Amino acid sequence: MSKVATLRLDRMLANMGYGSRREIALLTRAGLVILDGAPLRDADQRIPVTPDLAQRMVVDGEALDPPPGVTLMLHKPLGVTCSHKEAGPLVYGLLPERWRRRDPALSTVGRLDKETSGLLLLTDDGALLHRIIAPKSNVAKRYQVTLDRPLKGNEGAIFASGTLMLEGEEKPLLPAEIEVHDETHAAVTLHEGRYHQVRRMFAAVGNHVTALHRDRIGGLTLPTELDAGSHRIMGAADIAAVFTGS
Ligand code: URA
Repeated sequence: MSKVATLRLDRMLANMGYGSRREIALLTRAGLVILDGAPLRDADQRIPVTPDLAQRMVVDGEALDPPPGVTLMLHKPLGVTCSHKEAGPLVYGLLPERWRRRDPALSTVGRLDKETSGLLLLTDDGALLHRIIAPKSNVAKRYQVTLDRPLKGNEGAIFASGTLMLEGEEKPLLPAEIEVHDETHAAVTLHEGRYHQVRRMFAAVGNHVTALHRDRIGGLTLPTELDAGSHRIMGAADIAAVFTGS
């Protein structure tokens, strides 16, 4: 059985953005931190950080935020940037305000361009993040593509060849798959993630991407009920799905 980590209550809540340790001590003394229905009086007591803590703890009248070790799927809308510090709207602005003060911080697992929509994962679990992006995990990503000009018919062979070179790069792309829907729509599955890769692949074959949407990472598909701008906390089965088929 794996050991459950314990954290001091004041440290855990301060690191989740609820305030300073002094503020947490005051909240606790006021009986506003409740575990399993009973107020906790002691802010320096250690709490086992189990995934169900959010269902068992109430802070100032509200269910606890997801404890550390959280992974989310977000339906990224167009026009927001995957960055902690660039100007303009950021993906982190789509999450509850308090979550921006978390330590460890939530980070995106890879990036989508500002003008790309779709499935984006965020996690505060550095080991999981690295496992998802590690080349040896071979987690495929699928993109739905809309093109400016009709497909010529040779794109599948060129993308699958393993010899396509993008401008300014020294290594050819790994083979990628294309599934043609109609003459200006296709799905492309990649096994790596280079800068603006899908847009640059179509530019390399004389076309232009006018809309790009990621709908799958590994075996995890963006749920149709998750509206643009919304997120959902991932459970163990969702995380396992990311690695299926790889
Ligand atoms: N390829 C792109 O061109 N943009 C993305 O956001 C992802 C893949």
